[in-house]
Amino acid sequence: MYPLKELLAAVAFAFVAMQGSLVLETQARAFFVFGDSLVDNGNNNYLPTTARADSPPYGIDYPTRRPTGRFSNGFNIPDLISEELGSESTLPFLSPELRGEKLLVGANFASAGVGILNDTGIQFVGILRPARQLQLFEEYQGRLAALVGSEQATTIVNQGLVLITLGGNDFVNNYFLVPYSFRSRQYSIPDYCKYLITEYRKILVRLYELGARRVLVTGTGPLGCVPEERATRSRNGECAPEVQRAVSIFNPLLVQMIKGLNSDLGSNIFVAANTGKSSADLVTNPGEYGFETAQEACCGQGRYNGIGLCTVVSNLCPNRDVYVFWDAFHPTERANRYIVRNILRGNTDYMNPMNLSTILDLDSRA
Ligand SMILES: *[C@@H]1O[C@H](CO)[C@@H](O)[C@H](O)[C@H]1NC(C)=O
Ligand SMILES: *[C@@H]1O[C@H](CO)[C@@H](O)[C@H](O)[C@H]1NC(C)=O
Repeated sequence: MYPLKELLAAVAFAFVAMQGSLVLETQARAFFVFGDSLVDNGNNNYLPTTARADSPPYGIDYPTRRPTGRFSNGFNIPDLISEELGSESTLPFLSPELRGEKLLVGANFASAGVGILNDTGIQFVGILRPARQLQLFEEYQGRLAALVGSEQATTIVNQGLVLITLGGNDFVNNYFLVPYSFRSRQYSIPDYCKYLITEYRKILVRLYELGARRVLVTGTGPLGCVPEERATRSRNGECAPEVQRAVSIFNPLLVQMIKGLNSDLGSNIFVAANTGKSSADLVTNPGEYGFETAQEACCGQGRYNGIGLCTVVSNLCPNRDVYVFWDAFHPTERANRYIVRNILRGNTDYMNPMNLSTILDLDSRA
């Protein structure tokens, strides 16, 4: 017979141990997000910048019906991926709520307005450029280690899913921002794309060095077809041809770079997500996917609602679900759902070398 005290201690220990493993088993894998306004969950709310989505009607279809800093009427791409992971949305790294157990969900480091290059988005002032986002990822890992110990922290990061979305702003908010921009005088479109890819590769390598092992890398959308470009760069509302040409050079170079990087690393760490194809599907054939327009933004003013910002005094469409574009640049939640569906289940035209459901399946068996 054991003395009662020891028995109780053993039971208590078993209970704690069981709870510990329950927490680890029921906790969905962590999710880390880097990039620009397509994936920012609200970091810019905490920054001295003009690139912000913290006033109505942003968030009009979000569960709280309030603006959150997401550049969407409702959920954005990372929110919908979190949903698939069976997880709550990641908090912005700058949110004071990101502490304690919340760290286990992951974190969002994205900042609207940034690009691959440091001179992209300078007009927005105080944003988190990629190098800074990666620094904050390191800071996050320190906080996580303080919570669960450094070994466990490394495991959580290694087993996490990462999403990075960059490049769009290097075109619309840099090269094509003004006629005769510095970058357009410096580089032809093909040479600029090559330069962007070289710099993007360095960012991805750094992400790998910091422990990322499953990284979805999105290409850029049909930037020449966003309401803002149609409004300012085309005669009859067709997609702006030179911007479209740039995208058609950039995206294949990105896929090629990712292939090379994976082969150097000897593993499929990086996965090219051709979100540009998903967006192009919607832009080319909105009706086929249940949308009424891909030309006009839901919220904005001027031609195609593509001029200036979406604010409380802008035109606002009554039914967001029939618009591909929410504002002059960003998709509606419904369009984001189509994009994420293809990330999850798309064939190799959409996801290379494999889709997210295959990744989740593979990693759950590893
Ligand atoms: C951007 O700035 C960071 C930090 O200052 C630097 O490490 C990086 O090389 C810069 N990128 C480019 C493309 O100049
Ligand atoms: C993508 O996901 C679906 C559903 O899980 C799967 O059946 C399909 O084979 C995958 N496609 C590719 C090309 O990996």
